[in-house]
Amino acid sequence: MPSVTGLRALVTGASSGIGAATSDVLAAKGATVLRTARTITGPSSFACDLAIDVSALASWAGDVDLLVLNAGLGHAGPFAAMPPGRIAELFTVNVVSQLELARALLPGMISRRRGHIVLVSSIAGAMGVADEAVYSATKAALRTFADALRLEVPAMGVTVVHPGVIDTPFFDRRGTPYTRRRPRPLPPVTVAEALVSAIEHNRPEIFVPSWLRFPARLNGFLPSVVRVFQRRFG
Ligand SMILES: NC(=O)c1ccc[n+]([C@@H]2O[C@H](COP(=O)([O-])OP(=O)(O)OC[C@H]3O[C@@H](n4cnc5c(N)ncnc54)[C@H](OP(=O)(O)O)[C@@H]3O)[C@@H](O)[C@H]2O)c1
Repeated sequence: MPSVTGLRALVTGASSGIGAATSDVLAAKGATVLRTARTITGPSSFACDLAIDVSALASWAGDVDLLVLNAGLGHAGPFAAMPPGRIAELFTVNVVSQLELARALLPGMISRRRGHIVLVSSIAGAMGVADEAVYSATKAALRTFADALRLEVPAMGVTVVHPGVIDTPFFDRRGTPYTRRRPRPLPPVTVAEALVSAIEHNRPEIFVPSWLRFPARLNGFLPSVVRVFQRRFG
């Protein structure tokens, strides 16, 4: 799938942040973009709460060449203090609904012999982040799912995107603003452009910014070293 021009794309979480920017970049490159979120209006848009059901969304979207599973929410704070129901909410929106949507749309891709699925994970999915234990687990689930799916349907593109800190409403929405000076938040269009480039080059995995790949890889080889740095720098 060398170009996104002419593709029919469905983007979840398209009302804001990374999803909105990705929708715009895809549209500017000539894709037909279907956008979904709870608070979205306009042509080619479908308002849908992923925590409730994805079947109506899948029917509305029809045949999709490119599925960008981006919708998600965060939670910051000690695991032991998480309110009841919050764990299920995070897994439902970040994982279950995204996988249900992929399951609904993948058979069409397989029968048409073309398709690409992008999963927006997080650097937290490659190396667990303190006070974001459940969020990290949801994002790691997406990454592992993608690794398995890639083997199962080798003719399809499967790309995992690991953003670092991105300047979107994500932090305000989760109720805990981002207060660190470094790393500085990147604009969402930086992720959007990297994501679309990854589709065009059929890359299995990208990190944004790209230097995040090094701590993530080191975590695979030498997790004890990474734990020392994480205790020191968070
Ligand atoms: N910002 C970061 O630093 C960062 C870093 C790593 C990974 N990420 C990941 O990037 C993805 C996009 O986040 P963002 O930073 O762009 O945050 P955002 O601006 O808050 O966007 C989140 C999107 O998800 C949608 N959404 C949330 N709950 C939903 C639900 N129940 N049903 C349907 N849609 C829902 C929101 O739309 P509505 O509210 O209109 O429904 C919104 O469009 C997320 O998966 C996030 O985990 C973000």
